[in-house]
Amino acid sequence: MFSRRSKSRDIFRVTAIVAGSLLLLYITLHSLYDAKHQLGLQTSKGDGSLRTLKEDQDHDAQDLIDLDAVYSQDFQEDEAEASATSADPSKTAVNDTGIPIDQSNDMDDDYDTLPERIDYHEIFSLTTTNRKFIPVFTGGVGIYNPNIIPHPTDHTLWIMIAQHEQSGVEIFVSEEMTCNVGLLNDVMVCTAEPTVIPIEPSITGNCSAELAYFNARGGPRDARMYHGPDAPYIMYGSQSAYSCIGIWIEDARMLLDDFHAERFVVPKLFTHATEVQRPPPIGGMEKNFFLFWDSANKAYVHHEIHPHRVFAQLSFDGSVGPNLATYSAAKDDVCIAMYMPHLAPDMESIHQASNSLSITLCKRADPGCIPNDSNTFIFTMFHHKSYHDWHGVYEPYVMVFQRDAPFAIHAISQRPIWIHGRAELTRDTHSLLYENGKDIPAGHTEMFYITSISWKLHGQKYHGYLDDPLFLAFGIEDTRAGLIDVMAEDLFSDLGYCPGFMTR
Ligand SMILES: *[C@@H]1O[C@H](CO)[C@@H](O)[C@H](O)[C@H]1NC(C)=O
Ligand SMILES: *[C@@H]1O[C@H](CO)[C@@H](O)[C@H](O)[C@H]1NC(C)=O
Ligand SMILES: *[C@@H]1O[C@H](CO)[C@@H](O)[C@H](O)[C@H]1NC(C)=O
Repeated sequence: MFSRRSKSRDIFRVTAIVAGSLLLLYITLHSLYDAKHQLGLQTSKGDGSLRTLKEDQDHDAQDLIDLDAVYSQDFQEDEAEASATSADPSKTAVNDTGIPIDQSNDMDDDYDTLPERIDYHEIFSLTTTNRKFIPVFTGGVGIYNPNIIPHPTDHTLWIMIAQHEQSGVEIFVSEEMTCNVGLLNDVMVCTAEPTVIPIEPSITGNCSAELAYFNARGGPRDARMYHGPDAPYIMYGSQSAYSCIGIWIEDARMLLDDFHAERFVVPKLFTHATEVQRPPPIGGMEKNFFLFWDSANKAYVHHEIHPHRVFAQLSFDGSVGPNLATYSAAKDDVCIAMYMPHLAPDMESIHQASNSLSITLCKRADPGCIPNDSNTFIFTMFHHKSYHDWHGVYEPYVMVFQRDAPFAIHAISQRPIWIHGRAELTRDTHSLLYENGKDIPAGHTEMFYITSISWKLHGQKYHGYLDDPLFLAFGIEDTRAGLIDVMAEDLFSDLGYCPGFMTR
């Protein structure tokens, strides 16, 4: 497996193995630490006296100021997003009775504490010995929000891209990084040091008023990489020609060396960074668009999922047709009301999270399982996002919709998905889990943020079956990356079906 690699890669590999072992040791110690936390145990000081873990962490005023700084950008983004969308009546927040909520005094509110324990649908790794998720090891390069797809030629590897973690330095240009990764002792390890993806420079910023500070930082943000039926794509947020921050797309083969062989031979769309447009109204700050393809492999872009879906057909120049969600809205609204979480009035939202994949809802192993119009769908993940005690919480759900017009929603997870290994603090301790410079309040769980879904097996691109393994990739507390491999049926076993659709 190592024979084809250069010497420097071998050295990196050896370093990675040594460091991987250290990482495992760290993880073991970390889980012991977690266990102590959960039991509310105390640690012993050298002098034999006991003190709580909270005291161990020495929280002084400076720490609180740092904490505030860490979250302030996130808050700014949220507030900017809320005010940028508030002009659009279709985006006005409504409560359960459908009555618009006055959000004008949000910023002064204290963020409330966590709700009572949530009922989750837990998923477990197919490959790790403890069945917890797979950490990503990059040799010390800070990354988060990972995306992976199978490597085009080496069937022991996957290609990963992720946001470069640049906190602590003043950022003028954000970056996406890439490395090839392979599984080693239950850790996904980069085979060489991650490199910056040569994404085209952002256009000049056109943000004004409360969004003006976005002009100061170019470069790709929150990139997604995923396979369509033919090509892999990289999609990311950057300065927009139509608003402040928009979404751009490029064929990943133009940007990643391992696709070099395919670069000049296969006909392609999006050979340069192209801005993906949306039907009006255009928000100041667009996020998380994803593409999907119908049974004829025509491409569409899904812009929004809540409170109403917005999606449209996509053209090669990034322009889009009219909002097609008007044709599915009557059905969708019923299903959304049935299964999507009901939002509290303050600081809660439902956001698109991942790309999409297509699935036939029977098993590849079953000879009678042949994809047709009534058993094949598209699915994606979305988040229910909330803030409590100044800590973001993202709960992931699956949404399944028809593969052809009217693309109505078919099913939605009945409960949020819990990734085995996500850390959780007890409510009755005052301890704070201190993670990469961030505090997590008592009673909270780690913030896991799903960014991408991919079929795990090599050669598989957009379409799969219930008995095919998938990778979910996620960021942890905006500082680390993780992956979990599960059978598609594990994700699909807790779906609630929309009225008028037969359950399988
Ligand atoms: C929805 O908002 C209206 C007006 O603010 C309020 O009277 C009503 O009680 C709210 N309903 C719920 C379920 O929160
Ligand atoms: C972007 O710039 C153009 C031309 O300079 C202007 O007309 C437009 O209003 C700007 N859009 C935003 C969202 O600032
Ligand atoms: C589609 O395939 C399923 C089996 O997976 C079969 O039960 C169903 O009748 C088929 N539908 C059509 C329209 O062919």
